[in-house]
Amino acid sequence: MSENPLQDIKHVTVIGAGAMGSQIAMVCALAGYDTDVVDIAQEAVDRAAEQLHSRMDRDVSKGRRTREDVDAAFERMTFSTDRDECAAQADFVIEAAVEDLTIKRQVFAELDAVCPEHTILATNSSNIVSSRVADATNRPEKVCNVHFFNPALVMKCVEVVPNPATSPETVETAMALARSIGKEPVQLKKEVPGFVANRLLGALRTEALKLYEDGVADYEDIDVAAKTALNHPMGPFELMDMVGIDVVYLIRLAEYEQTGDPASLPAESIREKYEAGEYGRKSGRGWYDYE
Ligand code: 3HC
Repeated sequence: MSENPLQDIKHVTVIGAGAMGSQIAMVCALAGYDTDVVDIAQEAVDRAAEQLHSRMDRDVSKGRRTREDVDAAFERMTFSTDRDECAAQADFVIEAAVEDLTIKRQVFAELDAVCPEHTILATNSSNIVSSRVADATNRPEKVCNVHFFNPALVMKCVEVVPNPATSPETVETAMALARSIGKEPVQLKKEVPGFVANRLLGALRTEALKLYEDGVADYEDIDVAAKTALNHPMGPFELMDMVGIDVVYLIRLAEYEQTGDPASLPAESIREKYEAGEYGRKSGRGWYDYE
């Protein structure tokens, strides 16, 4: 193993300018990495820049960060729709695009073709294990999951998950990168869909949805119980609205594809909200109303 696993890591490219991708990129830039946020749509990139600027302005006004640190971080950031140009300079790529295996495999194959040989290709997916994308590349030993939590600017946990082909050096570098950006990484020993934290969360969410769908209690009251009896910062329904009901739905579908177990399918009330476009905070309405 190298003395400093981060000696070759200067430039991070984050694929996907959604809530996760943009905040992951901001965290990296704040820690001193040259960082790109890339998306297919200019609109998504512009929205990410605008939201990050207002989030950072708020942090500065509340004394959580200095204006100098924030300005320097934005200096290090590139908001772009040219993925290949960014990836060609990347030492570490974090893919945080849509939870769709076909798209992810294509993205990984294309990244493999343009990234330098030493570049690590990580996916932020919480449910698609990296062995399912690693074989779309010629560098499976440099592919792993690096899973952040929402909101990534705040949450400390990062799960680093190797696939059977991932090299110890890649794991070491991913763990070191996570530490260097102020996170507390958790290293899994092997792949399992959902990893550790989401499986814990999923158990709570499944039970909460069952209690609600069985008419045992209103979702507002279930949230109150989680907060006041268990001291959770948010109830499971509030959390679904924050994470995105579309994300919850797609995670369940991806899990079903991997397990074939009907118990993995999204709950009925989640499917209804997904089909109605009620995704939570991002769409103005989910379990709660944000208009
Ligand atoms: N983005 C960035 N920062 C945020 C934020 C967001 N969306 N929401 C809150 N914050 C930060 C801000 O600094 C905020 O202060 P401000 O409003 O004065 O600027 C500060 O957190 C405190 O926020 P609030 O006063 O609104 O509320 P809380 O004290 O409850 O903190 C929270 C917010 C940190 C989000 C807290 O409620 C929490 O920890 N909730 C649980 C989050 C959680 O469980 N995340 C994991 C989700 S699962 C996941 O991500 C896995 C994936 O695979 C789906």
